[in-house]
Amino acid sequence: MDRHIPRLELVVILLVLSGFLLFILNMLTESSNQKCKTPKSSLRHRKSNPREEAKEERSLLNSIKWPGPWVQGLSVELSSDPTKSYFVIQGSSKQHRGGQLLVNVHMQNFLGLPKGHGGDFLIARLHSPNLGAGVAWKVHDHHDGTYTVLFPLLWAGVAWVEITMVHPSEAVAVLKRLQKEQPDRVFFKSLFRSGDLAEITVCNLCLPLNYKPLCNYTDPLTGEPWYCYKPEMLGCDTRINHYKGGYKKNLITEYEAQFFQSDVNIKIPIPASAMGKVTVLPREKGEANVKNNNISAGYYFHGTWRPLNGAVIQQFKDSSAITRCLRGKALYMFGDSTVRQWFEYLSALPNLKLLQLTLYSSYKMGPYMAVDSRNNIRVSYRCHGPPIRFSTVLSSELRYVANELDKIQGGPDTVVLVSMWSHFSTFPDEIYIRRLRHIRRTVVRLLNREPATLVVIRTANLQKLGPGSSLFNSDWFSLQKDALLRVMFRGLHVQLLDAWEMTLAHHLPHDLHPPHAIIRNMMDMILSRICPSEEI
Ligand SMILES: *[C@@H]1O[C@H](CO)[C@@H](O)[C@H](O)[C@H]1NC(C)=O
Ligand SMILES: *[C@@H]1O[C@H](CO)[C@@H](O)[C@H](O)[C@H]1NC(C)=O
Repeated sequence: MDRHIPRLELVVILLVLSGFLLFILNMLTESSNQKCKTPKSSLRHRKSNPREEAKEERSLLNSIKWPGPWVQGLSVELSSDPTKSYFVIQGSSKQHRGGQLLVNVHMQNFLGLPKGHGGDFLIARLHSPNLGAGVAWKVHDHHDGTYTVLFPLLWAGVAWVEITMVHPSEAVAVLKRLQKEQPDRVFFKSLFRSGDLAEITVCNLCLPLNYKPLCNYTDPLTGEPWYCYKPEMLGCDTRINHYKGGYKKNLITEYEAQFFQSDVNIKIPIPASAMGKVTVLPREKGEANVKNNNISAGYYFHGTWRPLNGAVIQQFKDSSAITRCLRGKALYMFGDSTVRQWFEYLSALPNLKLLQLTLYSSYKMGPYMAVDSRNNIRVSYRCHGPPIRFSTVLSSELRYVANELDKIQGGPDTVVLVSMWSHFSTFPDEIYIRRLRHIRRTVVRLLNREPATLVVIRTANLQKLGPGSSLFNSDWFSLQKDALLRVMFRGLHVQLLDAWEMTLAHHLPHDLHPPHAIIRNMMDMILSRICPSEEI
């Protein structure tokens, strides 16, 4: 037995040594490879419970797990080819309104052979062009190369099935890699100026430590981090502005680029094997209503959005109807350019006077306010804090939504509208979770002090994608972030505005900034919520 002791010692020494090595390696990679992972709780809000937060984060990340990749270095012929794939409508070509339409999707590769695994990013829509009708529906992945969609049949008429492959699973694997290895593929800059001296340095949520001195602009209230390289000659307090520096190039290999070809495998429709449409007959007597309607927010009919939860949407056709609805109200809009579209919609009303709140910021940056003093209407817009890809925001105007919400009194005449997703697409999910957590905390506080405050959170939407933009703004990134947002605000007394479905169900092409027809429907939803029983 004696002989075993030295061996045991050796094992212990080896273990300690390897542990130490790992520790050193970790430190080295942490500092040089900037992981952008600091999901620490905020400084001020001591009430936060780190263990609960870590648990929530794990469960959130688990909920958006995407299958794959299965094989690395698969030749492109074996990857998913939308035009060789097909869908099959099950059942008769005539079905009844109120029923469900089952569609099976069979994915195949460029050789025309069935795929054996899932993970392709597909979207689905059922629509009747002549009726201005459309509904988006979830695609279920069976992880064997087949997928199903169970559309509700919500109107009578000829309805076409549209299944689109946004990305093959092989491209999603590349996006996952980028998400992990290139969190700073969009980078930012700041101008520093004092007297005759001016310098520009690179900024981001996290920058490598021990490389160059940093300026630390971490928000003291929320603890949201932000750093710039320290200018050579100027101090950190001479920062003037913030702007998008650019997009990193050469992010993917030639091999990976094959999975991102505009006419081949980015947003390409999948053909029907035989019939691509069904005739929906009027409801049969006694047929049940649409079941399970909580997985879709609504559908279009005659170009008008109809929520499936039974909410009545009024159409606010003219400015006097909108003015009557908004009389005495204050609307606060925070976020990215997709909430600014709502501001632009309202500030175009003839009676609203637009005020730019800073003299020197350029168009689009804000902050803005539009007022109608006769009717006591105030609508304001402010962009969210960094990372924001706008061109040139004054650094003094960089505000975090959470901090702004804390300044709002709230009440029955206050409406808060938040949209914040697009500028986070290139960052790890943990960063987005932390940001939403700060907003959620202040929303809860706002609703505790004034429960009658209306809070509307806008979800992400689909957009036009090409080989370049996919690496930064893919709908796949948006979908992942969007799923997190929905879960994090579930159960709170806030209204989720489902921009995802409203853009997917619509016949107009996907656009980062949805077209006016969709914005009008969104505004009608919001206004109907503000003035539910108003006679207009
Ligand atoms: C930046 O400042 C924050 C808050 O003061 C601090 O928690 C953080 O550790 C600082 N970061 C660095 C790299 O020193
Ligand atoms: C919505 O659907 C999910 C799963 O399909 C279900 O667990 C949940 O209870 C439903 N919620 C409502 C309000 O119907």
